[in-house]
Amino acid sequence: MQTIHHITDMSSLSARWREQGETSAFVPTMGNLHDGHLSLVRQARDLADHVVVSIFVNPLQFDRAADLDAYPRTLEADLDALRAEGVDAAFVPDEQEMYPHGREAEPPVEVPGLEPLITTLEGEQRPGHFPGVVTVVKKLFDIVAPDVAVFGEKDFQQLRVIEHMVATLGLPVRVVAGETRREANGLAMSSRNNYLGAAEREQAGRLHAVLQELRRRLLADPVADPDALCAEARAELEAAGFRPDYVVVRRASDLAPAGPQDTDRRILAAAWLGPARLIDNIKV
Ligand code: PAF
Repeated sequence: MQTIHHITDMSSLSARWREQGETSAFVPTMGNLHDGHLSLVRQARDLADHVVVSIFVNPLQFDRAADLDAYPRTLEADLDALRAEGVDAAFVPDEQEMYPHGREAEPPVEVPGLEPLITTLEGEQRPGHFPGVVTVVKKLFDIVAPDVAVFGEKDFQQLRVIEHMVATLGLPVRVVAGETRREANGLAMSSRNNYLGAAEREQAGRLHAVLQELRRRLLADPVADPDALCAEARAELEAAGFRPDYVVVRRASDLAPAGPQDTDRRILAAAWLGPARLIDNIKV
């Protein structure tokens, strides 16, 4: 595996593959890799001749400096894991390489029509988050020039935002969704789970259980009021020690509020447990 720190080296490698008629699949990450990431890497392996994984903790998508500082950084272990997966190139730029004129000076990528997708749910809780994500992902796409990119469904709203960006800007990359990997108790794998103690980690599985119960009730009673069922799910989470930010049922295609006629619905939730803000989502 090549570990690449410079944009020019990454671009040259991907140009060489292209000249040779070979394809590449890309998995962007912020490191601290777990099995959820590695399953995206394995999926990428089946989609193209070469796999590139980026590791870059993108400061633009953090609203709070403390959150950025606390973000777990485990580069050597990450590179070992990627080597073991047979990844061709790890692209590991530093901040100076990605934002040479400073992060404040980086021109935000403008994507027409991104609102209301980026102002609801995670966007409402973390206003600068998605503008920061689209800016870095567009830049990474320009550098890596992949044929296909894999994004986890765990960050369902991010997946929809990236799909919208690619479609609207006409970017020559196919976006593929990867299924959420879960711990035995249902907890969705996430780097933020590291903030949980052992007892909290066990308790955290309740989030998924509550969402599954909500889905069961929605399917069992097609005329039930989804808002009332979501309110009950919230109360159940509160009783279990969570501090929920939201529990909602949305249209899966654009995350607009789901009407009774919408068949393609998604349950999405975010809740604090101790020091960790957990997000999860499931198909209805
Ligand atoms: O999902 C993530 O880890 C990040 O948001 C991403 C896509 C790597 C952009 O920094």
